Amino acid sequence: MPGIEFANLAPNIGAEVRGLDLSRPVAAAEMAALERALADRAVLLIRGQDITPEQHIAFSRQLGPLEDHVLSNFCLPGHKEIFVVSNIIENGKHIGAFGGSKQYHSDLAYLDEPSLGSVFHCLECPEEGGETSFVSMSAAYAALPEERKRWLQDKKAVFDYVWHYERTHRDRPALTDEQKAKVPPIAHPVVRTHPVNGVPSLFLTEIWIRRFEGMDDAESQKIVADLLAFATGPEFIYVHKWSPGDILIWDNRNSMHKACPFDETGTRRRMHRTTVTGTRPYFEAAA
Ligand code: OGA
Ligand code: MN
Repeated sequence: MPGIEFANLAPNIGAEVRGLDLSRPVAAAEMAALERALADRAVLLIRGQDITPEQHIAFSRQLGPLEDHVLSNFCLPGHKEIFVVSNIIENGKHIGAFGGSKQYHSDLAYLDEPSLGSVFHCLECPEEGGETSFVSMSAAYAALPEERKRWLQDKKAVFDYVWHYERTHRDRPALTDEQKAKVPPIAHPVVRTHPVNGVPSLFLTEIWIRRFEGMDDAESQKIVADLLAFATGPEFIYVHKWSPGDILIWDNRNSMHKACPFDETGTRRRMHRTTVTGTRPYFEAAA
């Protein structure tokens, strides 16, 4: 591909992309290479991008239509496509979503059509801590024993946002009936075929999953916990240490991520996220 080059960040996940300037439209051939590399490596890093919110949105749209986040109070004023993730307080108010994603998840997995991927731009970050950790769920799935893979292939996991909210956020205001109606429990295949490269991945998260369809909660949760303990082994992980100007694109179809702890009262972390809409997960046995 003329102009752009890829270099792996960890054995099973992540690639740095060199030779891109996201302040300008990316050519169709380069976008095709990026989309393929995203499917294959799950996380793409593009360093040194001093771009405006408009340029961030325009580039993200080249990957697909964007979500307007439900928590509109945390969106960048004037830019409903940009969700602010930050610990910073200005005029007595949090400027962004504060913490909240310190357990492994895939963005919007509890929706009927979970997000394809997210584009994260680092504006400010602490010297220490505050990394983002990623897991390759395709590499984790590939490493499972064949018997386990076969057992998982016809299973569905029930993602239940309201159930999870009510047992973990007792300190927050109760969800209204209207909010609850937007996020009914949804069953997704536990093994998911990637629409771009056809590679199967585990589609599980540390939050929201109540049970496997047709099994009881406690038994299901034990199996999910065992699978996630396996998936979060060091060989499947890439931990990104941020620098201002970094753009990371992550694929929500074949990876999980979480924020790592940092000094939330003494340092500043400010990130902008766009969220690309996705399609319904499916599993297709290899021919
Ligand atoms: C997110 C998220 C992790 C981080 O914005 O979806 O999970 O490191 N962020 O802030
Ligand atoms: Mn997230």
